Amino acid sequence: MLIARTLSDLRSACTALRAEHGSLALVPTMGALHAGHRALVESAVASGAATVASIFVNPLQFSPTEDLSRYPRDEAGDLAALQASGCALAWLPDVATMYPADEATTISLTGPAERWEGDARPGHFRGVATVCAKLFGQVRPDRAYFGEKDWQQLQVIRRMVTDLLLPLDIVPIETVREDDGLAMSSRNRFLTEAERAVAPVLNRTLRATAARLADGADADLPLLDAVRSLGEQGFDVDYFALVEGPSLAPIPRLSANARLITAARLGTVRLLDNIAAR
Ligand code: PAF
Repeated sequence: MLIARTLSDLRSACTALRAEHGSLALVPTMGALHAGHRALVESAVASGAATVASIFVNPLQFSPTEDLSRYPRDEAGDLAALQASGCALAWLPDVATMYPADEATTISLTGPAERWEGDARPGHFRGVATVCAKLFGQVRPDRAYFGEKDWQQLQVIRRMVTDLLLPLDIVPIETVREDDGLAMSSRNRFLTEAERAVAPVLNRTLRATAARLADGADADLPLLDAVRSLGEQGFDVDYFALVEGPSLAPIPRLSANARLITAARLGTVRLLDNIAAR
């Protein structure tokens, strides 16, 4: 596996890989890789493209109240995991490369970036979209892979690619879960043993709520029940909502493309999950 830390190394490696493989796939990450990231890389590799994975803990997507320095970092472990998954090139830019001091442009979003994570983490999607636009410009991939675990992020990136006519496809990959249903996340390592035992309740509650909505019932009561029951089990729920999948607009009952989405804090860890509701 090649490793690039400068833009010039990245450009020559991408040119060589494109000549050899015909196409490039990008998996953007912030490192601290787990089985969910490996599934993204493995899908990209299986597509036949030379796979580039970026590792960059993006300061622009952290709000001042979030602890950027607490974000887990494990470069050696990440590089070993990428190599084992068949990644062709690891891209590890520094902050000065991604955000030169004199720059004047960031991406501003409405639509799917409003509400939910947009409300809970002001500026977060501006940071995510800006760094992804830069990564797309640097690597120039034919497609980029994103996990459905961060459902709203996936919709925001899809919308940006459509709206800005960016020449790549966005490939969604299903959430990878622990055996007990907990969605894989780099932040799960911060759960205490007791919290880890409770954490799968979030996914169980999503599934139970989807079952209650399946006959077309109004969502209000099942959603309130879910928030109350999660609260009783120690979760501090930011939102638990039924939305139209691509737009993230709240909907009153099941319809095509409906998605149940939630974010809830357990101790110091904010857990996100979502499932298709049908
Ligand atoms: O999902 C993530 O890890 C990040 O938001 C991403 C897409 C790598 C952008 O920094």
